[in-house]
Amino acid sequence: MNSVTKQGSARAADRMTSLAETSSHTSMGKVLRRFWHPIALSNSVAPGKAKAVRLLGEDLALYRGDSGAAHLVANRCAHRLTRLHTGWVEGEQLRSMYHGWKYDANGQCVERPAERPGSEAGIGIAAYPVHEYCGLVFAWLGEGEPPAFDLPRKAVFERSDVLLFRRQEIWPCNWLQLAENSLDALHVSFAHQTGKVGVFGEAVTTIVPQLHYEETLAGIRQTAVRSEGGKSHVRISDWTFPYANHVSIPPIRAGASWMEVSNWMVPIDDTQTNRITLVAAKTSSPAADADLQRYFDGCETYNAAEHHDDLFAGKYPEDPLIRLTSAQDYVALMGQGAIADRANERLASSDRGVAMLRRILWREMEAINSGSSTKQWRRIEEPVVLVESIDAACAART
Ligand code: FES
Ligand SMILES: [Fe+2]
Repeated sequence: MNSVTKQGSARAADRMTSLAETSSHTSMGKVLRRFWHPIALSNSVAPGKAKAVRLLGEDLALYRGDSGAAHLVANRCAHRLTRLHTGWVEGEQLRSMYHGWKYDANGQCVERPAERPGSEAGIGIAAYPVHEYCGLVFAWLGEGEPPAFDLPRKAVFERSDVLLFRRQEIWPCNWLQLAENSLDALHVSFAHQTGKVGVFGEAVTTIVPQLHYEETLAGIRQTAVRSEGGKSHVRISDWTFPYANHVSIPPIRAGASWMEVSNWMVPIDDTQTNRITLVAAKTSSPAADADLQRYFDGCETYNAAEHHDDLFAGKYPEDPLIRLTSAQDYVALMGQGAIADRANERLASSDRGVAMLRRILWREMEAINSGSSTKQWRRIEEPVVLVESIDAACAART
């Protein structure tokens, strides 16, 4: 390889590496800091309690004041740098367990018990805006005023005739592997065949889909059309930037309605992802609703990462949907390594969604680096029909 070719390859490899970076000094970290990120389930932090969370490589203390309001501050005391979530919530303030320094929800130090009163002025830690939506706590780590909380919203989660279910898994790999996977509908015909059971197993076929991708106001619309016997099954992902996949999924039990789900692939740091799921299921009979609630209660604490060795040995959970699909995706994505080596892949025509996402990410990074404006992503307000069966002839024109 001559030196010009070597330099070109090194530049291409650097461009690939940049996609997976999350810390504040990186271009991708700056792109990611322009969005609201879900960081925890609301019910994971009770009034008067604090917990440690990590987002984009930043260690944070999430606590809920006695009023019930959630607050988020840097998780290091300004004094001797111990973790603040190990301390005590007092009203809307958080006190360090080490020597009792106390901070308000803006991060301002308001008390140092062993020092002269008033001498704490000018001492503080970082604090960040939070917003709770549908039982999830979202945070904003960007500079300046956050945008209105709008892009993560979906009409279906705000309907009165749905039950909402939430869950969370933490996987030891980079967020972009999960995001790219959600724009790769072909994998459903293969990865989700492994160990399949139940209604989902019947709904998933090995038919290779026709794929179409289009950049939208909010992100990317992915259309996957699977045709068989004169009928076509169309599935759409109303995918929202920078990583939220919104799709329709089959029911747990035969005959029930399909459900809608958003999966957020939240970067904890470069090698860990917080996979947060919100499911909306149409209410039905009290017995069917209770059955669904029991099913989701049973899934609540499943984390594929805790079954790593079993999964890689081919032992999948016996489950009709949530645990199984999560396990299948986990095996595919962890199989790529903690951070996929994108410089050595061979993308093919079925990877058009992955390629589109990367082009958009590079475009946004370049805009930030050159000081020009990034895209102003907007929520698609009208509900999108995510799944339908139509004539194959009609699908061919999709
Ligand atoms: S480390 Fe927090 S008060 Fe000393
Ligand atoms: Fe999948």
